[in-house]
Amino acid sequence: MSVEVTPRTADVTPDRAPRTPEGTPVARPDDPPRETPITPASADVTREFDAGAPRYDLLVGLNPGYHQHLRAAAAALADRVPAPRRLLDLGCGSGASTKALLSVFGDGVEIRGVDASAGMLAQARGKTWPPGVSFTQGRAGALDDLLAEPVDGMLAAYLFRNVPEADRDAALADAWAALRPGGALVVVEYSVAGDARAGRIWRAICEAVILPLATVTGGNHGLYRYLERSVLDFDTVPRFAARLGGAGFVDVESRTVTGWQRGILHVIRATRPLDEPAPTRNGSRRNRRGRR
Ligand SMILES: C[S@@+](CC[C@H](N)C(=O)[O-])C[C@H]1O[C@@H](n2cnc3c(N)ncnc32)[C@H](O)[C@@H]1O
Repeated sequence: MSVEVTPRTADVTPDRAPRTPEGTPVARPDDPPRETPITPASADVTREFDAGAPRYDLLVGLNPGYHQHLRAAAAALADRVPAPRRLLDLGCGSGASTKALLSVFGDGVEIRGVDASAGMLAQARGKTWPPGVSFTQGRAGALDDLLAEPVDGMLAAYLFRNVPEADRDAALADAWAALRPGGALVVVEYSVAGDARAGRIWRAICEAVILPLATVTGGNHGLYRYLERSVLDFDTVPRFAARLGGAGFVDVESRTVTGWQRGILHVIRATRPLDEPAPTRNGSRRNRRGRR
């Protein structure tokens, strides 16, 4: 992928994050696709993905560059961890990002896909995978019980925007703890906050392309309304990079892609240092049993 490299990011830009009311009704997994309110709560997000799961692959297949960007992100991970034994695909969804990892690293690597949505996991499990690939239901921020061993590398594609802001730092701290020292995390995410041009393009694409396509293909409109809003509300790239630094990651770098998603879609890399325990809020050192 030809990409632009943006400077390493250290400054913090405050979130503007307007919030919709919580506690409004949302789709249950067995509901037919319908317009649903947008809420930021994690369980509600999972229900939206459950409801949208059967049509998810169809819709991302209509997004030019979706799979190519995932493969490029997997290649960015391979730059940092060229010979991994174990990888984690956090927020693996229907397996598109898992497939990208497989295409770059080959089937000699153990790849675990973790996702909160049973519906998305059912889509992933319905595909054909080599023996080293497995899928587990779980939540970012609660990986402790899922992983017996630390992983060498982790991909989180289009995940962190879906983790409520209040839980995001804890989820990153958990990702740090799930990596072996020296292991790397690659995040693929839409972020337009702080970039007026990117925000305008994103809104226009949602109104002119994404929402009409969701309608035509019978997708869950609520999920795609939520997609629009969640991108507008997500951290700026510097803010997210600062979160990574706060969780103990080093060598944080970001780049955007070329084409219409320039300035909208970002690939962010970070490494767990070889010899530094992560800082914690109370100043003590966090340690994951068997991880160091
Ligand atoms: C936009 S999809 C991306 C799926 C896949 N990574 C891809 O690239 O196609 C986001 C996925 O993150 C999952 N997700 C959202 N919040 C999560 C959380 N807190 N923990 C684990 N998975 C979560 C959703 O269920 C959904 O499958």
